[in-house]
Amino acid sequence: MKIPQSFIDQLLQRTDIIDLISTYVPLKQKGNNYLACCPFHGEKTPSFSVSPTKQFYYCFGCGVNGNAIGFLMAHEHLEFLEAVQELSKRCGLEIPTENAGAAPSQNTPLLYEYLSSAQHFFQQQLKQHPKASQAIEYLKKRGLSGETAKIFSLGFSPPEWDGLYNALGKTAADRTALQNAGLLIKNEQGRVYDRFRGRIIFPIRDHRGRVIGFGGRVMDNEEPKYLNSPETPVFQKGQALYGLYENKSYLPNASYVLIVEGYMDVIGLFQHGIRYALATLGTATTPHHLRILLRQSHHLIFCFDGDRAGQEAAWRALKVSLPYLDGSSDIRFLFLPEDEDPDSLIQKEGQAAFEQRCQNSQPLSNYLIEHIAQHLNLSTLEGKAKLMAELQPYLTLIPEGPYLSLLKAELEKRTGISEAHHSRRTPAETTPQSLWTGLSLEEQALVHLLHYPALALEIPHPRLTESSQNARLLNQLYTVLQTTKPAHAGLLLQQWSDADSQQQLAYFSTIEHPTHQEGNVALELTGIFKTLHEREQLSILDLLLEKAVHTELTVEEKQQLNQLLQKNRKS
Ligand code: UTP
Ligand code: MN
Repeated sequence: MKIPQSFIDQLLQRTDIIDLISTYVPLKQKGNNYLACCPFHGEKTPSFSVSPTKQFYYCFGCGVNGNAIGFLMAHEHLEFLEAVQELSKRCGLEIPTENAGAAPSQNTPLLYEYLSSAQHFFQQQLKQHPKASQAIEYLKKRGLSGETAKIFSLGFSPPEWDGLYNALGKTAADRTALQNAGLLIKNEQGRVYDRFRGRIIFPIRDHRGRVIGFGGRVMDNEEPKYLNSPETPVFQKGQALYGLYENKSYLPNASYVLIVEGYMDVIGLFQHGIRYALATLGTATTPHHLRILLRQSHHLIFCFDGDRAGQEAAWRALKVSLPYLDGSSDIRFLFLPEDEDPDSLIQKEGQAAFEQRCQNSQPLSNYLIEHIAQHLNLSTLEGKAKLMAELQPYLTLIPEGPYLSLLKAELEKRTGISEAHHSRRTPAETTPQSLWTGLSLEEQALVHLLHYPALALEIPHPRLTESSQNARLLNQLYTVLQTTKPAHAGLLLQQWSDADSQQQLAYFSTIEHPTHQEGNVALELTGIFKTLHEREQLSILDLLLEKAVHTELTVEEKQQLNQLLQKNRKS
């Protein structure tokens, strides 16, 4: 039996290695990773590390490493196929065989088509369905104009089990695709029915305007208030922002982007003239969100409800933002009065007053300090010292640069404690971070690329002379990253069949580089490649000069020598 690679990839993407390993080995979180005493060799102090972001394990003691499949094979003494079967069972996935045909399910262009048809269906139902009047009344009651409803392509899912099913699920292939798009559900008895029933439908579109999923709101007090599409190959909640497409033409001229919590907030604000509000879809802000947001504007204002949940969400957004504070971005926080959200507030007080609130929003630095200081007494020396100590972990997440310097200066003013006293680092131990020092340039480049694989698409392939194993690995890694886009290191490492390279790359993936910002890393990587290139040129120059002393050079060699000499003189 041959298992398609796409299924293995899907399986590894569905699996959380932390969940898996912790059913066999007690894991303790330490920083970004999880630690345990290595189950593969006897030891008293833990050196077995599991990374949730990279989805693989590595033992600093004995060097074993691998992804979730590798762990099951090694720990449970399973064959590859058995390990795949075991994992599939855990994820509730069925193993397809190669000749079962490439399922149309994985065909993303097709998913977009079904999603688009569904969007038209829902929109049509809002106009035609005999029971749609309830939805229209509801939208009116919420103050929405027909025009706004049209811009956001709002729809209505009929209160039936088979509304969409009958309209779009004509053939078995249609129904499979609709299931994969998250629009139909198959229950345990094998019955297939509509996911969205009796709800107002909010299509979620990507920046190109393609429908990627839906939110559906009830019109009474039933639970859940909103039902959303499940994660599908085209819809990941941690990457989607509601309103991106609808506000697209206004965003470039906005002086900032407002980030709110709900569908209705985006729509309410839009209708009242604020056409630069985007919402995360009921999830915490992710680094992915932040990168998309910073592409729209360098000035962001996070807007949260005044309640406790809002406070918590704001603090999470702050933490995610820290690595992006390089001095070019201005991130602020706006807290609304209790029991209000942007939608209710703008209806009450209108655009101008709401924009005034935005003008008075709190700068991130201010929020950071206030939030930590709120339970401290800053009039005492102890309180000030405590503030510095508690701020330290947050400061280390901010990249070196003007922003950090100013923030430190501000803190010094407030506490009288100067930089020299609070920048003391903890004594060196073999943390992933301290492993960074002592890496060669090739190794640094490998670490950077393993952390920011997308850079391989931005920065041209250095095509190094393969004079060392690392140079060869670097070339290979580049090729792999440019041709496939593995979601995490656990998937990536599969591409090497020899254990040596796998081990080497796994090791580099565990190292944490001191830079925290993709932009900085891009610059650094470009610099590294430039230096490596110059080094290569110099060593070729040396060889040619050496050779010229003993023998006559060929015409090409002479040309090359001249070029190199010229370049060398210039720089
Ligand atoms: P809110 O409850 O603030 O929603 O949840 P809202 O947009 O203001 O809705 P209205 O005004 O009551 O109609 C914020 C977001 O959290 C997600 C949705 O994305 C919602 O817009 N959410 C909320 C869910 O996914 N499911 C829920 O049951 C509730
Ligand atoms: Mn609301």
